[in-house]
Amino acid sequence: MAQRIPEEVIEEVRHQTNIVDVIGQYVQLKKSGKNYMGLCPFHNEHSPSFSVAEDKQMYHCFGCGNGGNVFKFLQEIEGISFPEAVAKTIDLGNLTVDWSLSSQSDRSNNKEDSSHTALIQLHEKAADLFQHMLLNTKAGENAFGYLKDRGLTLEQIEQFQIGFAPKERILLQQVFKNDAVPEEKIAASGLMIQRDNGEWVDRFYQRIMFPIKNAQGKIIAFSGRLLEEETVNTKEMPKYLNSPETELFNKRTTLFNFDKARGEARKENEIILFEGFMDVISAWGVGIKHGVASMGTSLTNEQIQMIQRVTPNVLICYDGDRAGFEATHRAIQLLTDNSSLDMSIIHLPEKLDPDEYIKKYGASSFVELVHHGRETVFTFKMNYHKQGKNLDNETEKLTYIHEVIAELAKVSSIVEREMYIKQLTATFHFSEESIQQELAEHLAKNRQTRQENRETRRQEQHIEKRVVQEQQKRKIDRIEKAERILLYRTINEKAIQNQLNQLPDFSFVHDEYQEIYQHYSDYMLLNDKFEHAGFLDYLQDEQLKKVFIEVSYLELDEESSAKEIADCLKVVQLSKIEAIRRTKQAELNEAKQMGNQQRQEELTIEIINLTRAMQRNK
Ligand code: UTP
Ligand code: MN
Repeated sequence: MAQRIPEEVIEEVRHQTNIVDVIGQYVQLKKSGKNYMGLCPFHNEHSPSFSVAEDKQMYHCFGCGNGGNVFKFLQEIEGISFPEAVAKTIDLGNLTVDWSLSSQSDRSNNKEDSSHTALIQLHEKAADLFQHMLLNTKAGENAFGYLKDRGLTLEQIEQFQIGFAPKERILLQQVFKNDAVPEEKIAASGLMIQRDNGEWVDRFYQRIMFPIKNAQGKIIAFSGRLLEEETVNTKEMPKYLNSPETELFNKRTTLFNFDKARGEARKENEIILFEGFMDVISAWGVGIKHGVASMGTSLTNEQIQMIQRVTPNVLICYDGDRAGFEATHRAIQLLTDNSSLDMSIIHLPEKLDPDEYIKKYGASSFVELVHHGRETVFTFKMNYHKQGKNLDNETEKLTYIHEVIAELAKVSSIVEREMYIKQLTATFHFSEESIQQELAEHLAKNRQTRQENRETRRQEQHIEKRVVQEQQKRKIDRIEKAERILLYRTINEKAIQNQLNQLPDFSFVHDEYQEIYQHYSDYMLLNDKFEHAGFLDYLQDEQLKKVFIEVSYLELDEESSAKEIADCLKVVQLSKIEAIRRTKQAELNEAKQMGNQQRQEELTIEIINLTRAMQRNK
């Protein structure tokens, strides 16, 4: 959806929306003074520092610094583009916006969009029908009993919109016929199959139906789990059957539960990878809600990138059987090669999958395991290479040690490496020096490899992050404080803007404030009224937006006083004179060194005058 939305439409949407209603659908807000407060959805916190200002139609987190208008909020929380956020706002508010304002060039896109919308509607309708069958009909009784036996609650069934497709293959057939759904739509949906005689029948039958959703939470496909039954010959049928690839559904770019897990993963600062849908759903049932599963295939690069945009940490929690062990190994490889994600691993005992583990050992045991039973990648590899080897045999033991030391060379933390070396020497009775020496050779070899580059990248990102954090915590000095107040008053009081305009040589000291001030003046020439949320869309630069949000959130007296403004102007003025004096002083030092007598005298007089001016201004 790369279409450009016209300014008028964006403005219209903004005007018809109340940010409090939209954010209220994601965050529990409580009125506090004239603003609303809640727990920030963008970082983990226990006391609320997330504020929504209804009058300004803006939000701001004092903890992590995230802030903006309603579109920014949806972009951040849903991980979507600006146009998508505008569309989502229309959706959430059931707004009626005149899209005829869209320009001609947007039309083709719209056609594609509306085809998608129609197909999504078919899927949503199918999901409703399947769920109705499961919950309210005789045909669904066995399926419901099966799910209950597996420990699923009604809440889980509803959350994941689980349903049942009965054995006759006529459910969708009849409803779609009734609704006169055109044949090409039916064909494009992948929900039905055409027999040789031309008749369309339901693709899914005698299956528990799991809707598959895209990142925006719209149903784009199904996966159906076979329900064994005497009257149906289920021998040849696969346990899980997925929708075919359609214009909506691409396995490579889909992760089961990504729409719901994304927000949770941001808070937890990690995402969990499971093998099966049932694992995701069971974990959700015990409060572990940041799990996703790929679509019965190994992890794709697209999926890895989706994850990376949400969090830097992945926990792999695959089945405890041999296949799960191999799948974990493959996932580690893929993640290492294609991302800078940090990994840890949960190894389940007794060949259990997460769902079975929860059933056998209970919720709290699983939660404990997820929090405190993690392996590092290296520990996993140590176990992995043990497979098929008899470590009592000297040759096999040596092969093993070589493999393990090669893996050890990939561990970036020195402390971690030291720990493993101690472990290896204790277990295998090698000298620490011999291990260190072989390790050193590997490290030297690896230096040029991608692994090392990846590390550098990660370190760069760490440094970048630190810089950002430091900037956030940056101490605001006296000058900047004055600038903030002046900018705040300018924006809120016409008289102050006029006052500043009439000062012949007024300007802000810091570029950011001067730029915002200029943008503000331009904005006021184009608009008759100032709107915070609109101005945020007008400001393009992220840093300027951030400063503007901070200024908007200042807590000042209702109205300015002449003294307040005069004091601020004085601080700004003084700091400018001070800056000039400093350059003159530097020039003077230079002149002294050059032995330029005349220049020295000139500069000395200038400096004396500047110092006097400063004293007068104090
Ligand atoms: P599993 O067989 O491990 O699923 O396959 P599970 O979650 O334990 O299923 P239950 O507990 O028996 O109901 C893991 C994933 O592999 C894909 C599905 O995506 C499934 O979630 N799969 C499995 C298929 O696509 N087809 C199959 O026939 C089997
Ligand atoms: Mn299972």
